[in-house]
Amino acid sequence: MSKLSVNPQPGAGAEVTGVKLNQLSDTDFQEIQSVFAEYGLIFFRDQELTEADHVAFARRWGNININRFFAAHKDYPEIALVTKEAGQAENIGGDWHTDHSYDHEPALGSILLARDLPPSGGDTWFVSMYKAFEQLSDGMKNTLRGLRAVHSAKHVFGAQQGYELAGDEFGQRIGNAPATEEMINPVHPVVIKHPLSGKEALYVNSAFTLHFEGWTPEESAVLLEFLYKEAVREDHISRFKWRPGSIAFWDNRATWHNAQNDYPGYRREMHRITIDGCALAAST
Ligand SMILES: [Fe+2]
Repeated sequence: MSKLSVNPQPGAGAEVTGVKLNQLSDTDFQEIQSVFAEYGLIFFRDQELTEADHVAFARRWGNININRFFAAHKDYPEIALVTKEAGQAENIGGDWHTDHSYDHEPALGSILLARDLPPSGGDTWFVSMYKAFEQLSDGMKNTLRGLRAVHSAKHVFGAQQGYELAGDEFGQRIGNAPATEEMINPVHPVVIKHPLSGKEALYVNSAFTLHFEGWTPEESAVLLEFLYKEAVREDHISRFKWRPGSIAFWDNRATWHNAQNDYPGYRREMHRITIDGCALAAST
């Protein structure tokens, strides 16, 4: 009999215990699917997954999205390496954001697995975009439901921008910056009807959202800054402490994450597999 148990976290997400992801029954998988839709974020502990196990688990959720910017595992192109070397100052994803909002069909989410950890630090923080929307006034909710926003990757991954200006001393990217010039900035609803849960979620983020459609960046900044501040209220944050065998699986359409860069002098290597998503519909 299944020993699967779901422990909701006080900030965001739920921890699922009592399962081995490399020996998962169909019944337990279906249960995990419903937990994922409900919380948009699942934590697992003490998993012993090989790279092949990691890929196999990811495939149960959909097509794997091969990362266009970051280097892959040499034997498993499906696995993107999220590494910070001991001598490296910058980390990847060190501000609040959601991945892939710059795509017309943003990726569903990522399954991130710890491979090499510093003795302490390097936590990943998460917040729920369901909660971020839920806590707003009815007046603000109605205003946001009528808005759409333009997103872009160019200022982050483009030539002579963001990551490229920071350099690539450790060969962690694949030199694909010029490809961002071909990308057409998508426009997404500001409040989406989540494709798995049907719940309303706030869908803007400080990394990739440029402005509201039909608004100037300056006009947009006032409201966006308010939303960004409210979304990360202290009591809404889950601070995930990684241990060997830990996994975080987040939904990009229901959460933000923020990788802490507080372990100078130590190496950290994570394996990330991203699942394809779909176009996002407005909540009403
Ligand atoms: Fe990220």
